[in-house]
Amino acid sequence: MKALILSGGKGTRLRPLTYTGAKQLVLVANKPILWYGIESIVAAGITDIGIIISPETGNEVKSKTGNGDRFGAKITYILQDQPAGLAHAVKVAQQFLGNYPFIMYLGDNLIESQLNLFLDSFSQQNLDSLILLHPVTNPSAFGVAKVDSQGRVLELIEKPENPPSNLALVGIYFFSEIIHQAIASIQPSVRGELEITDAIQWLINHQKKVQSCQIEGWWLDTAKKDDILEANRIILDTSPMSSILGQTDAQSQVIGRVQIGAGSQIINSTIRGPVVIGNDCYIERCFIGPYSSIADQVTLIDADLEHSVILEGAKVVGISYRIVDSLIGQRAQLTIASQRPKALRFLVGDDSQIELI
Ligand code: TTP
Repeated sequence: MKALILSGGKGTRLRPLTYTGAKQLVLVANKPILWYGIESIVAAGITDIGIIISPETGNEVKSKTGNGDRFGAKITYILQDQPAGLAHAVKVAQQFLGNYPFIMYLGDNLIESQLNLFLDSFSQQNLDSLILLHPVTNPSAFGVAKVDSQGRVLELIEKPENPPSNLALVGIYFFSEIIHQAIASIQPSVRGELEITDAIQWLINHQKKVQSCQIEGWWLDTAKKDDILEANRIILDTSPMSSILGQTDAQSQVIGRVQIGAGSQIINSTIRGPVVIGNDCYIERCFIGPYSSIADQVTLIDADLEHSVILEGAKVVGISYRIVDSLIGQRAQLTIASQRPKALRFLVGDDSQIELI
């Protein structure tokens, strides 16, 4: 069994961050989203992993993620020259995948469940495909499955006007080698992409064994800012014990589950967990409220924030109003020149500078 993680794509819904970086490398609780997927695949016992990368962000994904040693895996990078669809990515990876069955994992998806049970179910039933489903309140926004009482998949419909069920397709699929024949037989959709749903529909139409499983627990597709914040909230809620490696002075208060990385200084500030603070941060006269993740080398002075993700090297100084529900890009700088509103909400790109005057 192999795994194929898709970490290419355009990431248009997460602009401007994706103008300068891969969305799969955005940090959730100070760890790239992509790494959660790798870890969960390795935990299921699959260590031969291919990662699809794009020409724009591939080098960054490669250099940050490495050859797999840190995960106990072997990673092969596969360049997809354009984001021509999920099935196109499988086509590009055909040589890597060979005749092996494989799990296909969208690099921006996170699920609570472990993959072992699905893997066992896929292998034991000798399926051609196992798809994972999750009930949603707005099925028209998703790929939706029509299934029978035994979970056999009858039909897949992309963003249906009249959804046959409320079961959305999660971005994690299991395939036997027959999927390559299916992909070779389909044509690009109206949006010009080779769709994995069309390839699975081909399997269904050719009487192949396509089964579904409803996943328990949460599923997140981190396509947009609020998805990142929600993923950050959920991961911080389940993340382990406090650990304080940096320094906190006598005027500071650290309450609840808080991690503070090496070389970070907390001066005259209150940190109320769950909060993760990276290495070499400088935090003075701040309140850092629950569900905040502060990456390495961030400077916060006279700032008050909660439920926010601040990426590497960002600087927030003198913003006396509470910053909430915000995602602040790498090296972005926020400064204030005069008093203004009570709450601020940001989606700020890498290297942006915002000055309130
Ligand atoms: P999407 O979220 O469907 O597409 P996207 O990442 O381009 O984002 P947006 O719709 O906001 O422009 O992709 C799901 C995952 O699959 C994501 O991790 C990117 C990856 N992907 C590829 O690797 N190759 C592709 O051709 C496509 C379409 C996506």
